[in-house]
Amino acid sequence: MLVLGLESSCDETAAAITDNSRVLAERVRGQIDLHQKYGGVVPEIASRAHLEAVETLTEEVLTEVNVSFNQLDGIAVTQGPGLVGALLVALNFAKGLSLATDLPIVGVNHVQAHALAPCLQEKTSPRPASLGQAADDNYPRFPLVALVASGGHTSLFLVEDYLTFKILGQTLDDAAGEAFDKFAKLLGLGYPGGAIVEKLAQRGRPASFRLTRPMLKEGLNFSFSGLKTQVMGLYRERQLDLVPADHPDLADLAASFQAAVVEVLVTKLLSATRLTKAQGAVLAGGVACNGALRQAAAQTLAEEKLPLWVAKPGWCADNAAMIAFLGEKLLTQKRAILPLQAEARPRWPVDQP
Ligand code: KG4
Ligand code: ZN
Repeated sequence: MLVLGLESSCDETAAAITDNSRVLAERVRGQIDLHQKYGGVVPEIASRAHLEAVETLTEEVLTEVNVSFNQLDGIAVTQGPGLVGALLVALNFAKGLSLATDLPIVGVNHVQAHALAPCLQEKTSPRPASLGQAADDNYPRFPLVALVASGGHTSLFLVEDYLTFKILGQTLDDAAGEAFDKFAKLLGLGYPGGAIVEKLAQRGRPASFRLTRPMLKEGLNFSFSGLKTQVMGLYRERQLDLVPADHPDLADLAASFQAAVVEVLVTKLLSATRLTKAQGAVLAGGVACNGALRQAAAQTLAEEKLPLWVAKPGWCADNAAMIAFLGEKLLTQKRAILPLQAEARPRWPVDQP
């Protein structure tokens, strides 16, 4: 099935064409340069940039695969959650395409799509024998536990099949990516913070600052705001705003902060996997690009003799291939076919159809 996926929920505009789990073409246009000076995403600027990009990116993926609209089977678009003005850009563009071409549109939940990103395959990959049930440990099997950690979400789900999600736990305050971003802002490192903090942490010693592991033993919910407050306190107490950028204390603080976030995420991922007797676990969302997290999660799951499924970094971050992939599942079941009056769903829990 050939599906066009469209994504504009936050600060990346993306288009992709998938055939089953294979990604035939994809484009992602980020907006970091537009938001950087504000230290975070400015919704109006994001919407305008999506408007400027969505048509071009769609044309580019169609041209690359050399297909026309009448060869597609449907359009999958992120319907939520996300910034309402941003979501509306791809949604309305998809409606326009649908009116002109008669193609069905399905509305995809962005967070569900993140959780299934490890199912995506390069266009040259052999097709797994039976999607979702392949005996091969490299391909996700249900039921699985998914940790989606991004700038807006940090949640644990039990995923029973492509379309059945149960919430096991979620953050009570900041998302993990947001904590990285706020840490980077405190140190004046720029936006978004995750990759910059990871790089700084590579020069530091993770055990040098004794930081709290919030809610480590308390169920499957997360809280990162206390950790942020603790780090801010240390930063001021040691007057780290006065030291040069290459001072080892800064790298030590970054390494200690990253270690605390990673330990909490991995401990809860393991608890959830044990509790649900899942077949394995998925790490997804932008924070899953973090090398220390990937390594710690893989090692912990391996000790439990369970597979960890993580997509390549480009498919952990926001992209349209994951939207097209889940969209195909919805199209196949004729679920979530959107009427033209469908609205964006800025707050859309994963356990609601
Ligand atoms: O999934 P994503 O691309 O967009 C959202 O849906 O939010 O995630 C972006 C988030 C940002 O907060 C960013 O700082 C974080 O993912 N991130 C990282 C890394 N790369 C991106 N966090 C930690 N380490 C990284 N290497
Ligand atoms: Zn995302």
